[in-house]
Amino acid sequence: MNPEKKVSVGAMFDSIAPGYDFLNHFLSFGIDRCWRRTAVSIIPKHHRNPEILDVATGTGDLAISAMKINPVKVTGIDISEKMLRVGREKIRKKGFSDRIELSEGDSENIPFSDESFDVVMAGFGIRNFSDPSRGLREMNRVLRPGGLVLILEFSFPERFPFRQVYGFYFRRILPLAGRIISGSRKAYSYLPDSVMEFPYGGEFLELMESAGFLRTGQRKLTGGIATVYTGFKAQTQ
Ligand SMILES: C[S@@+](CC[C@H](N)C(=O)[O-])C[C@H]1O[C@@H](n2cnc3c(N)ncnc32)[C@H](O)[C@@H]1O
Repeated sequence: MNPEKKVSVGAMFDSIAPGYDFLNHFLSFGIDRCWRRTAVSIIPKHHRNPEILDVATGTGDLAISAMKINPVKVTGIDISEKMLRVGREKIRKKGFSDRIELSEGDSENIPFSDESFDVVMAGFGIRNFSDPSRGLREMNRVLRPGGLVLILEFSFPERFPFRQVYGFYFRRILPLAGRIISGSRKAYSYLPDSVMEFPYGGEFLELMESAGFLRTGQRKLTGGIATVYTGFKAQTQ
């Protein structure tokens, strides 16, 4: 565990919270919205009307996308109070305040008791954790037996020449555009750095399996720029 990383990540997201949504959609050409919609649409039918926990919810976009599958309730937690503030306002305007609740909380020490949720999800959050394996074990702990974990995270395209073209955009253009628009040099050079360092594909599935998830799977999105990972908690422990 690296407590310093947690403090600096929280402060970094606090500093970019007001422009986070705009930059997310702008720098991804709006594709991030499709990724979140695809992610929630792969929740299997027997998990319809679930109680969902969205860890590292940020401004709540994944929680809002989940409204499409008609959950009983979505609870979002995040360490950045300023991201949550932007999220609460958005949720209020969309009329979802009775079904989405955002509160401050650490995904590596989830403030809920064992077996509280049917689905636990994370959108572009886990690579920011100071200890991703601990975060995964915590997600497993709060899931009910047979429950689903759904993780949407950046990965990296493998195919030539898309890999090279995207690599240039992601490492050169995106940090520059992000810095100019947000005014934060750190946040938008941290983004490619954190993605390049983080395991993806089969390596990430191994991490999920080590945390106790069964029947893990992955679905690559947009040529592998992002991936949705799924796994299940055992029916009986
Ligand atoms: C890139 S944003 C993703 C937000 C949102 N899920 C989305 O899809 O846009 C990452 C979020 O992870 C949060 N975060 C990082 N480490 C965390 C932790 N240990 N516990 C809870 N939230 C964390 C940050 O504060 C930030 O809001």
